[in-house]
Amino acid sequence: MKTLIVYATRHGSTEKVTSRLMELIKGDVTSVNLEKQKVTGLENYDLIIIGGSIHEGSIQSSIHKFCIQHERLLLEKNLGLFILCIETGIKALTQIENAFPEPLRAKSLAMDTLGGELLIERMNFIEKFLVKKIMKTKESVYRLDNQAIEVFAQTLLSKTTQLAVQ
Ligand SMILES: Cc1cc2nc3c(=O)[nH]c(=O)nc-3n(C[C@H](O)[C@H](O)[C@H](O)COP(=O)(O)O)c2cc1C
Repeated sequence: MKTLIVYATRHGSTEKVTSRLMELIKGDVTSVNLEKQKVTGLENYDLIIIGGSIHEGSIQSSIHKFCIQHERLLLEKNLGLFILCIETGIKALTQIENAFPEPLRAKSLAMDTLGGELLIERMNFIEKFLVKKIMKTKESVYRLDNQAIEVFAQTLLSKTTQLAVQ
Protein backbone atom coordinates (compact mmCIF):
# COMPACT_ATOMS: atom_id res chain seq x y z
CA MET A 1 0.00 0.00 0.00
CA LYS A 2 1.33 3.43 -0.96
CA THR A 3 0.59 6.26 1.47
CA LEU A 4 1.07 10.00 1.04
CA ILE A 5 0.96 12.52 3.89
CA VAL A 6 0.46 16.09 2.67
CA TYR A 7 0.98 18.71 5.40
CA ALA A 8 1.72 22.31 6.26
CA THR A 9 3.27 23.64 9.46
CA ARG A 10 4.24 26.98 10.96
CA HIS A 11 6.44 26.02 13.93
CA GLY A 12 7.05 22.32 13.24
CA SER A 13 4.38 20.58 15.32
CA THR A 14 2.45 19.21 12.33
CA GLU A 15 5.76 17.94 10.96
CA LYS A 16 6.37 16.09 14.26
CA VAL A 17 2.93 14.47 14.01
CA THR A 18 3.59 13.58 10.36
CA SER A 19 6.82 11.79 11.38
CA ARG A 20 4.95 9.86 14.08
CA LEU A 21 2.23 8.86 11.58
CA MET A 22 4.93 7.67 9.18
CA GLU A 23 6.31 5.39 11.93
CA LEU A 24 2.85 4.06 12.78
CA ILE A 25 1.68 3.46 9.20
CA LYS A 26 5.02 1.96 8.10
CA GLY A 27 5.51 0.54 4.58
CA ASP A 28 5.73 2.82 1.58
CA VAL A 29 4.95 6.25 3.09
CA THR A 30 5.92 9.58 1.51
CA SER A 31 5.44 12.98 3.14
CA VAL A 32 5.23 16.34 1.36
CA ASN A 33 5.43 19.73 3.07
CA LEU A 34 3.14 21.70 0.76
CA GLU A 35 4.90 24.97 1.56
CA LYS A 36 8.26 23.64 0.34
CA GLN A 37 7.52 20.91 -2.20
CA LYS A 38 5.05 20.03 -4.95
CA VAL A 39 2.97 16.86 -4.92
CA THR A 40 3.49 14.63 -7.93
CA GLY A 41 1.75 11.42 -8.95
CA LEU A 42 -1.20 11.84 -6.59
CA GLU A 43 -3.07 9.17 -8.52
CA ASN A 44 -0.47 6.53 -7.52
CA TYR A 45 -1.33 6.54 -3.80
CA ASP A 46 -3.84 4.22 -2.07
CA LEU A 47 -4.11 6.25 1.14
CA ILE A 48 -3.79 10.05 1.32
CA ILE A 49 -3.58 11.89 4.64
CA ILE A 50 -3.95 15.67 4.73
CA GLY A 51 -2.96 17.66 7.83
CA GLY A 52 -2.43 21.26 8.84
CA SER A 53 -2.60 23.57 11.81
CA ILE A 54 -5.07 26.26 12.84
CA HIS A 55 -4.01 29.90 13.19
CA GLU A 56 -6.58 32.59 13.96
CA GLY A 57 -9.34 30.12 13.17
CA SER A 58 -8.12 28.88 9.77
CA ILE A 59 -6.01 26.12 8.29
CA GLN A 60 -3.04 27.05 6.03
CA SER A 61 -4.23 28.35 2.65
CA SER A 62 -1.88 25.87 0.90
CA ILE A 63 -3.90 23.00 2.43
CA HIS A 64 -7.22 24.66 1.57
CA LYS A 65 -6.12 25.19 -2.05
CA PHE A 66 -4.78 21.63 -2.35
CA CYS A 67 -8.14 20.21 -1.19
CA ILE A 68 -10.12 22.34 -3.65
CA GLN A 69 -7.76 21.76 -6.58
CA HIS A 70 -7.64 17.96 -6.19
CA GLU A 71 -11.08 17.31 -4.73
CA ARG A 72 -12.26 15.01 -7.51
CA LEU A 73 -9.20 12.74 -7.31
CA LEU A 74 -9.14 12.81 -3.50
CA LEU A 75 -12.74 11.57 -3.42
CA GLU A 76 -11.59 8.39 -5.19
CA LYS A 77 -8.94 7.66 -2.51
CA ASN A 78 -8.81 6.32 1.04
CA LEU A 79 -8.58 9.57 2.92
CA GLY A 80 -7.53 10.75 6.39
CA LEU A 81 -7.85 14.37 7.60
CA PHE A 82 -6.31 15.94 10.69
CA ILE A 83 -5.59 19.28 12.27
CA LEU A 84 -3.43 20.49 15.09
CA CYS A 85 -4.93 23.18 17.29
CA ILE A 86 -4.86 24.28 20.90
CA GLU A 87 -8.63 24.48 21.33
CA THR A 88 -10.54 21.40 22.43
CA GLY A 89 -14.18 20.24 22.42
CA ILE A 90 -16.76 22.03 20.30
CA LYS A 91 -14.32 24.80 19.23
CA ALA A 92 -11.86 22.21 17.89
CA LEU A 93 -14.71 20.44 16.12
CA THR A 94 -15.88 23.67 14.47
CA GLN A 95 -12.30 24.40 13.37
CA ILE A 96 -11.87 21.00 11.70
CA GLU A 97 -15.25 21.38 9.98
CA ASN A 98 -14.15 24.74 8.58
CA ALA A 99 -10.72 23.41 7.61
CA PHE A 100 -11.77 20.81 5.01
CA PRO A 101 -14.49 20.84 2.31
CA GLU A 102 -17.64 18.90 3.25
CA PRO A 103 -17.33 16.23 0.48
CA LEU A 104 -13.83 15.30 1.72
CA ARG A 105 -14.99 15.20 5.35
CA ALA A 106 -17.89 12.95 4.40
CA LYS A 107 -15.61 10.60 2.43
CA SER A 108 -12.77 10.44 4.99
CA LEU A 109 -12.09 7.15 6.80
CA ALA A 110 -10.75 9.08 9.80
CA MET A 111 -10.87 12.76 10.72
CA ASP A 112 -9.57 14.12 14.01
CA THR A 113 -7.84 16.88 15.95
CA LEU A 114 -4.51 15.53 17.21
CA GLY A 115 -3.71 18.15 19.86
CA GLY A 116 -1.32 21.08 19.52
CA GLU A 117 1.66 22.93 20.91
CA LEU A 118 2.46 26.58 21.58
CA LEU A 119 6.20 26.97 21.09
CA ILE A 120 6.87 30.46 22.42
CA GLU A 121 10.58 30.40 21.47
CA ARG A 122 9.68 29.93 17.78
CA MET A 123 7.13 32.77 17.67
CA ASN A 124 7.68 36.26 16.35
CA PHE A 125 6.59 39.36 18.27
CA ILE A 126 3.06 39.48 16.80
CA GLU A 127 2.44 35.76 17.40
CA LYS A 128 3.60 36.10 21.03
CA PHE A 129 1.27 39.09 21.44
CA LEU A 130 -1.71 37.19 19.95
CA VAL A 131 -1.07 34.06 22.00
CA LYS A 132 -0.77 36.11 25.19
CA LYS A 133 -3.96 38.05 24.40
CA ILE A 134 -6.17 35.21 23.11
CA MET A 135 -4.78 32.12 24.82
CA LYS A 136 -3.62 33.90 27.96
CA THR A 137 -0.22 32.25 28.10
CA LYS A 138 3.40 33.41 28.03
CA GLU A 139 4.68 29.87 28.54
CA SER A 140 5.07 27.11 25.95
CA VAL A 141 2.33 24.47 25.93
CA TYR A 142 2.99 20.86 24.83
CA ARG A 143 -0.28 19.10 24.17
CA LEU A 144 0.16 16.72 21.23
CA ASP A 145 -2.38 13.93 21.73
CA ASN A 146 -0.33 10.75 21.34
CA GLN A 147 -3.28 8.49 21.96
CA ALA A 148 -5.40 10.24 19.31
CA ILE A 149 -2.47 10.01 16.86
CA GLU A 150 -2.25 6.24 17.41
CA VAL A 151 -6.01 5.73 17.10
CA PHE A 152 -6.07 7.86 13.92
CA ALA A 153 -3.30 5.74 12.30
CA GLN A 154 -4.85 2.43 13.40
CA THR A 155 -8.30 3.44 12.13
CA LEU A 156 -6.90 4.36 8.74
CA LEU A 157 -4.88 1.15 8.49
CA SER A 158 -7.74 -1.14 9.45
CA LYS A 159 -10.38 0.59 7.29
CA THR A 160 -8.05 0.72 4.27
CA THR A 161 -7.24 -2.99 4.66
CA GLN A 162 -10.94 -3.88 5.03
CA LEU A 163 -11.83 -1.95 1.85
CA ALA A 164 -8.99 -3.64 -0.07
CA VAL A 165 -10.36 -7.16 0.59
CA GLN A 166 -13.99 -6.30 -0.28
C1 LIG B 1 -0.46 33.14 16.32
C2 LIG B 1 -1.16 31.85 16.64
C3 LIG B 1 -2.53 31.75 16.44
C4 LIG B 1 -3.20 30.55 16.76
N1 LIG B 1 -4.55 30.47 16.57
C5 LIG B 1 -5.21 29.35 16.94
C6 LIG B 1 -6.62 29.27 16.82
O1 LIG B 1 -7.29 30.16 16.30
N2 LIG B 1 -7.23 28.13 17.27
C7 LIG B 1 -6.54 27.09 17.83
O2 LIG B 1 -7.16 26.13 18.25
N3 LIG B 1 -5.18 27.13 17.91
C8 LIG B 1 -4.52 28.23 17.50
N4 LIG B 1 -3.15 28.27 17.58
C9 LIG B 1 -2.41 27.09 18.04
C10 LIG B 1 -1.80 26.28 16.86
O3 LIG B 1 -2.79 25.63 16.13
C11 LIG B 1 -0.80 25.29 17.46
O4 LIG B 1 0.27 26.07 17.93
C12 LIG B 1 -0.30 24.22 16.51
O5 LIG B 1 0.33 23.20 17.25
C13 LIG B 1 0.66 24.77 15.48
O6 LIG B 1 1.17 23.74 14.70
P1 LIG B 1 2.34 24.00 13.62
O7 LIG B 1 3.58 24.35 14.37
O8 LIG B 1 2.44 22.73 12.87
O9 LIG B 1 1.87 25.13 12.73
C14 LIG B 1 -2.47 29.44 17.26
C15 LIG B 1 -1.07 29.56 17.44
C16 LIG B 1 -0.42 30.73 17.12
C17 LIG B 1 1.07 30.82 17.31
